[in-house]
Amino acid sequence: MAAPVEHEKWSSRLTFILAAVGSAVGLGNVWKFPYTAGMNGGGAFVLIYVLCILAVGLPILIAELTLGKRGQMSPPNSMARLAREEGRHKSWQTVGWIGVAAGFLILSFYSVIGGWALAYIPKLISGSIISTDPGVVTAQFDALLADPWELLIWHSLFMGLTVFVISRGIHAGIEQAVNVLMPSLFFLLVALVIYAAIAGDFARAWSFLFSFDFAKIDGSVVLSAMGQAFFSISVGLGCMMTYGAYLPAQANIPRSAAVIVTADSIVALLAGLAIFPIVFANGLDPSSGAGLVFVTLPLAFAGVPGGEIFGTLFFILIAFAAITSSISLLEPVVSWAEEHKGVKRSLSAILAGALSWAIGLLTVLSFNVWGDFHPLSMIERFREATLFDLIDYLTSNIMLPVGGFAMAIFASWMLSKATTRAELDLPPALYKAWLLLARFVAPAAVFLILIFSVSE
Ligand code: TRP
Repeated sequence: MAAPVEHEKWSSRLTFILAAVGSAVGLGNVWKFPYTAGMNGGGAFVLIYVLCILAVGLPILIAELTLGKRGQMSPPNSMARLAREEGRHKSWQTVGWIGVAAGFLILSFYSVIGGWALAYIPKLISGSIISTDPGVVTAQFDALLADPWELLIWHSLFMGLTVFVISRGIHAGIEQAVNVLMPSLFFLLVALVIYAAIAGDFARAWSFLFSFDFAKIDGSVVLSAMGQAFFSISVGLGCMMTYGAYLPAQANIPRSAAVIVTADSIVALLAGLAIFPIVFANGLDPSSGAGLVFVTLPLAFAGVPGGEIFGTLFFILIAFAAITSSISLLEPVVSWAEEHKGVKRSLSAILAGALSWAIGLLTVLSFNVWGDFHPLSMIERFREATLFDLIDYLTSNIMLPVGGFAMAIFASWMLSKATTRAELDLPPALYKAWLLLARFVAPAAVFLILIFSVSE
């Protein structure tokens, strides 16, 4: 057992909220949510997604933050410490380790996609990717994906930025940046929704996103919606546990969790409302996959006066939103290393970043050289899945739900009620509601969804 190390604390409640919202709001909202909703038929997916956020994600987020705030350490050490304090088996520590592993995997592809956003910045400044012709934009995007070297450069830059911010510590940069950039992203997104409502096919987008065709629901739609919910609010891995560990004693967890979840959901829905009107107005295929946003936005910007400027700004903001998320993926393992013989932040950030960068090569190659490599093609649902698809599926749809399940069980059953009651400081009725959700509803939902969709 490592000697406890005192971590830095957030400088205020606001900085914690900003950092946690910064972690939640990212590519998951602007990139993954629209294309995953598109691939899963729209409304039914959105409905289940929202239900999963409220009934599963929110109680688990509260559980995860509580574990961190109480444990005061990185996920493996927080879990070990709490297990010891509460007289539980020490194998609960495994939950922390699964999170660390999932963090490496998610960051590996997150950095590649974050790299796409960076790559777009010069392309938008020069105007080379802005066109009213979907064919032109698609060809430009395909050309980016087809070139492993170009992807590699931007992936490396994105990972380098992530490592840089983490090695400087949370205070010395990210807090200030988040302050200005997250609100800007929000306002630009609202402006884009207004533009899309005027120039695009808003009515069709609306009915695509919000009319629930229950015939479209099957096990895989439900599983994707749950995976997306976990991914979007950064839960089930230990990011939020780590951020929770830096909270001062008087912080209010339930209120923070509600703010995080609300902000995150609003951004995701706005992104959907900005993108789908343009998708339909241009006859694009909503189920075309990971490139959806990257093809749609340049088309939108082609229609706005000053599109180069707004487009550039928008992708800068997306890149920032992505970095405030990617740092949260690296922080748990760096925090653990700090506790362990006090390894320096910069060293552990570089080593962990390098490992994740190397795993990221699998994603880089999935879009070109290994585009036809489908390692699990013998299983029907993975018939056409690339390595990137498989890593994404494994992390979002399996590891995060399993991690979240374990955290909910641990926080609600293994910690004494006296502990959680004191930590959460809720009115009795709300405390009971949380207990009910964390003990029964969320774990049962995760369990049933995993079992049914895997056996389907
Ligand atoms: N939530 C972020 C997004 O939506 C990504 C992310 C950051 C994440 N930390 C996480 C996802 C932890 C799962 C677990 O872009």
